[in-house]
Amino acid sequence: MMMSTHSDGNTLGLTKHTPPDVAEMDIRAHDGALYEWEGDVLALGVFEENLTRSEENKFLHPGLAELDYVMGGVLGELADEDDFTGKLGQLSVVRLASSKIKRLALVGLGRANNVMDAVYASDSWRILGFTAARIAKQLKMCSMGLAAMDTNLMDESSKLVAVESIASGAILGTYEDTRFKSEVYSLMDSMLAKFEKERINLEMLSIAASRKAKPSKLTQVAVMSLGTGSDRDEALRRAVCITAGVIVAKQLVAAPANVLTPGALADAAVSIAMAHSEVLTCTILEKVDCEALGMGAFLGVANGSDQPPKFIHLKYCPPDGVVYKRVAIVGKGICFDSGGYNIKTGANCAVELMKFDMGGAGAALGAASAIGALKPKGVEVHFISAACENMISGKGMRPGDIVTAMNGITIEVNNTDAEGRLTLADSLVYACRLRVDAIVDLATLTGACVVALGHEVGGFFTPSATMAQQLETAAQIAGEKIWRMPLVEQYKQTLESPIADLVNTSGRDGGSIKAALFLKEFVDPGMEWAHLDIAGPVWNRKTGTATGYPVRTLVKWIDQQQIVAGVADS
Ligand code: BES
Ligand code: MN
Ligand code: ZN
Repeated sequence: MMMSTHSDGNTLGLTKHTPPDVAEMDIRAHDGALYEWEGDVLALGVFEENLTRSEENKFLHPGLAELDYVMGGVLGELADEDDFTGKLGQLSVVRLASSKIKRLALVGLGRANNVMDAVYASDSWRILGFTAARIAKQLKMCSMGLAAMDTNLMDESSKLVAVESIASGAILGTYEDTRFKSEVYSLMDSMLAKFEKERINLEMLSIAASRKAKPSKLTQVAVMSLGTGSDRDEALRRAVCITAGVIVAKQLVAAPANVLTPGALADAAVSIAMAHSEVLTCTILEKVDCEALGMGAFLGVANGSDQPPKFIHLKYCPPDGVVYKRVAIVGKGICFDSGGYNIKTGANCAVELMKFDMGGAGAALGAASAIGALKPKGVEVHFISAACENMISGKGMRPGDIVTAMNGITIEVNNTDAEGRLTLADSLVYACRLRVDAIVDLATLTGACVVALGHEVGGFFTPSATMAQQLETAAQIAGEKIWRMPLVEQYKQTLESPIADLVNTSGRDGGSIKAALFLKEFVDPGMEWAHLDIAGPVWNRKTGTATGYPVRTLVKWIDQQQIVAGVADS
């Protein structure tokens, strides 16, 4: 394993960040009557249909009626008070004075047929876990029970998906990124001092208090009404491993570019490998190594930055060494995208968010961390990212420069802001040389994809019907939205250059398609390959946080590879 040194340049702004506060939760499947459970908060997932009442205002649903009766009518009051309709994610909480259960929460699951009829409705179940855990954290609760109505109508596989998704939501619900919040004490002290000196009002104090980190106290979670046993335990173990991977991706993507330099990203890859050293190994190629390999497209982009580029190659081998299928996940790893000389200026260019331009690499490393923990059989996985910054300097690439990729293709860089496809070109050639059976690349590649699909949906491109089917299934189980887009071969001619083999851009129309067609030039013919543009869903602009998209889909896709290889769960 080669180590990198991120002291290379991690000095800008003197920001020190503390390790993230990821709560240790004990999550278990639990049987028994709901009203016999003892603990701080019982969260009930209810469908809109469950809430119909009789003329005497009693619940018609037998389960709810029974609970309401046992709890002295509090459920009915709760539903009345907050005008609770069961809409997905709706929340209503009440304190129970004389009960073994301190608080009761109702969480809307939406319409039953949206959740129960679909084999996979992981999204809704995750929202149940998330909403309940968020409120449990805010109320400083230590134990939480989670249950839903009508689960007896679900088949076995839907129940397992529900258990995994509820647990995953519960973990995410308590997670808060406090790495860059300063110490509670210093914040409060300075505000208090100011208060005395300048008579700043109390409102400001409460603002300060609300900004400080609030570590979760939630340590015990019981997932009820979905059965118990070894399959549940396995689903919960999977939830813990995969969600930890989602959090890895969220943290890498949210870290600012002065902290998460290419060197720091390489260090993160090395740490992930060290945490699972039985199955993961990490190689970091330095600039000289990349030069020797002829990665002119990647190095052209990297050249404008003072931060040295790092080519990250993380490899997963199953514990028994038996491999039937070899795949690669390639992530765009631009730690900051200024645009280069084609600098990002327009009103909506969101240059201040361009720390998320390594979202592909972040998701790849998040998936690597999950795979390292889950240890699937029969499949070898390579996680690859060409990490660098796209900056401006006297050494920076000029518009019109011609760079030469690792496979010898020459590219006229008519727009330095289309840098992702340049770094991916060399990454894809590198992945093909590993002679893997399939490649998925992930990239915050085009603003055009955000225009086409918005912030919830990733766009994917593949010439292979098999890959398309696999990814659609994986995303559906994962509860992440993707949509297939066409590789319109006629548009390829717009990428012809009068002076080199290719230009890197050709107009705004069909921008995501042209980007995908550009990438295709660097994939061996016949290679199973898909490109996923994650420019929209990588970031949640409402909450100002990274989403961890599409770590879950990647893990499920890798899972499918062991099924294809016929070695799943021997
Ligand atoms: N990283 C951006 C894509 C991007 C833009 C992601 C906005 C998320 C939000 C990428 O490197 C880029 O700048 N693409 C250009 C391509 C164009 C020059 C052909 C774009 O989309 O504008
Ligand atoms: Mn760009
Ligand atoms: Zn970019």
